[in-house]
Amino acid sequence: MLKRVALRALDAAIDWTVVVLTYLLAVGVRVGGRIDSSDPAVALMLLGGAGVLQVVGNILFQVYWRNWNLAALEDLIAIVKASVLPAAFLLVINALTDPHYIPTGSIVTGAGLVIVVQSALKLRPRWRRIMSAAVGRRTGRQKLIVVGAGPTGQLFARHLIDDDVHREIVCFVDDDPAKRRTYVRGIRVAGGVELLPDLIHRYAASMVVIAMRSQGGTLVRRVLELCEPLNVAVRAVRGFDVMGEAATPLRTIGIEELIEREPVRFESHEVRAYLAQRTVLVTGAAGSIGSEICRQVVRYLPSRLLLLDTNESGLHDLQASLDSNVDTELLLADVREQANLRRLFAEHKPSVVFHAAAYKHVPILERTPLPGIAANVVGTASILAASTAAGVERFVFISSDKAVSPTSVLGLTKRAGELMTIAYARHYSRRYAVVRFGNVLGSVGSVIPTFSRQLDRGGPLTLTHGDATRYFMTIGEAAGLVIEAGGIAEEGDLLVLDMGTPLSIRDLAMKMIKLRGLRTPEDVEIRYVGLRPGEKLHEELFSADETATGTEHPRVLRAKSTTPIPDVGAVVDAAQRIEALIGSGDEGGALAALRRVTQYAPRTETGGDRGKRAAEPS
Ligand SMILES: NC(=O)c1ccc[n+]([C@@H]2O[C@H](COP(=O)([O-])OP(=O)(O)OC[C@H]3O[C@@H](n4cnc5c(N)ncnc54)[C@H](O)[C@@H]3O)[C@@H](O)[C@H]2O)c1
Repeated sequence: MLKRVALRALDAAIDWTVVVLTYLLAVGVRVGGRIDSSDPAVALMLLGGAGVLQVVGNILFQVYWRNWNLAALEDLIAIVKASVLPAAFLLVINALTDPHYIPTGSIVTGAGLVIVVQSALKLRPRWRRIMSAAVGRRTGRQKLIVVGAGPTGQLFARHLIDDDVHREIVCFVDDDPAKRRTYVRGIRVAGGVELLPDLIHRYAASMVVIAMRSQGGTLVRRVLELCEPLNVAVRAVRGFDVMGEAATPLRTIGIEELIEREPVRFESHEVRAYLAQRTVLVTGAAGSIGSEICRQVVRYLPSRLLLLDTNESGLHDLQASLDSNVDTELLLADVREQANLRRLFAEHKPSVVFHAAAYKHVPILERTPLPGIAANVVGTASILAASTAAGVERFVFISSDKAVSPTSVLGLTKRAGELMTIAYARHYSRRYAVVRFGNVLGSVGSVIPTFSRQLDRGGPLTLTHGDATRYFMTIGEAAGLVIEAGGIAEEGDLLVLDMGTPLSIRDLAMKMIKLRGLRTPEDVEIRYVGLRPGEKLHEELFSADETATGTEHPRVLRAKSTTPIPDVGAVVDAAQRIEALIGSGDEGGALAALRRVTQYAPRTETGGDRGKRAAEPS
């Protein structure tokens, strides 16, 4: 504290001296080095007074309390304001005296000089940088081109110029025609993104930094495509630590950004209306998709959000991370326990249910099918029964492309879930529907986090097959579309998300390697381990008996199927039978019963209760 006061006092003493000397210089220069005054002693006293007034002005305009390391125009204006005070004092004295003690012209020149000298002194922490900017580019520094001359690019440039002596920005590129050929912090906006290859050559740049608050997938893809043949790293600005005023480190581009498609604006009254002021329940809320659905549902302002899962810590973390005023409640419960579900549903009365709780790993369910069948089939039957009993108006069953012509236990369980949901919807005439989609990037246990971990360890990357393809979507897009699909779903609908074209897993691995600035096989090996039991080479979104038709949503399709749907009595019986078989540990029996549900065909005999018990073993 004492030290700070002493430093400020020293600063003030320097300012006083600077003012006196600067005005003396102004007087002297004007008349060839002599003090031109009617009374030099009075003139010196007046200049001493002006020095005191400068210090007072500096105090009034908080010049001593500013961080000159981060000075902006406003800080320099404070010096100008403070410097008006001594000049005004001397001019008033002149107005009252004749002859003048100090020539009026010297006062004006002196005031200007004081502003310049004071500013230069206050900006001394930045002298080194100002000098290097004046001298021009330095050799040995890494040369960067920044994509985006908007606020993020400007902030990035400021931090780089101020804090980074090893890197320099050689130019900006920006597609906005208004920004072209302008200067940002003294650096030229050379033109649009298409100029990148030319500019990289011209400036011998070794890094391109995307600095935009929301960089759409299209821009990221374009930048990467343009830079791919050139030997440059592409990075993005991670963000800014606003409190610390520091730029956070540059990050590598995530594969999600490369795959992400431009969001389609879909403003539907239906979507808003079915969630706003409703009680919404999400099963599997602690999981990858369930938690993202929760994060997005709160934006529609439901009256309550019920988070159901068996994962206690996951529920706790989700609730803590939900940044919303919506009333949330944790329901630590197992979807297989129907009695408990009925009690919870009767108590909390949800209007809308998203059913995402499931086991989902193909190889694990191949090895241990019973827990998977229990969670995915018995669990779905229980949730549906509890939902209808409690009067749930809308129900969305989250399905997967593995349900199409299933070759795995997981696929069979998801297909059974689809049929059960449609059966309940038809029987109870409710807007219960299925939303089916392919792989979600970044979900727990999926290929991207697996590859990332393998890359962190230095490889190898393990791929099942060189020709394997999968549909991919980001988790945010999938959850958003599930919510929108829930709004347009009719009774018993099977809606399928438009996932674009399937991607080669090998290409994905190669891209991830490249994004890290690595090469294969030099830096990372790719190892093929073969398809595991139940896995397909290619996934499909529609089965042979399904035809895709459009809906009002550009990214949601409706599957029209010729497959007969079992009635609700049949699915209830089948679920009970399967539950009993699981209880007795009869794996073969449970699997056979599951297959019969998914291969349902109505009985052809005439008379009797046709279709009533169609899901029974035949
Ligand atoms: N991840 C994908 O790529 C993908 C793609 C298409 C469809 N899906 C489907 O989406 C759903 C969710 O997938 P995810 O990736 O979020 O999986 P996840 O494993 O991240 O989440 C599943 C959640 O369900 C919970 N759960 C499991 N059994 C339960 C039970 N008996 N009672 C209550 N909660 C239980 C788990 O604790 C977990 O939190 C699954 O039905 C999956 O088939 C996933």
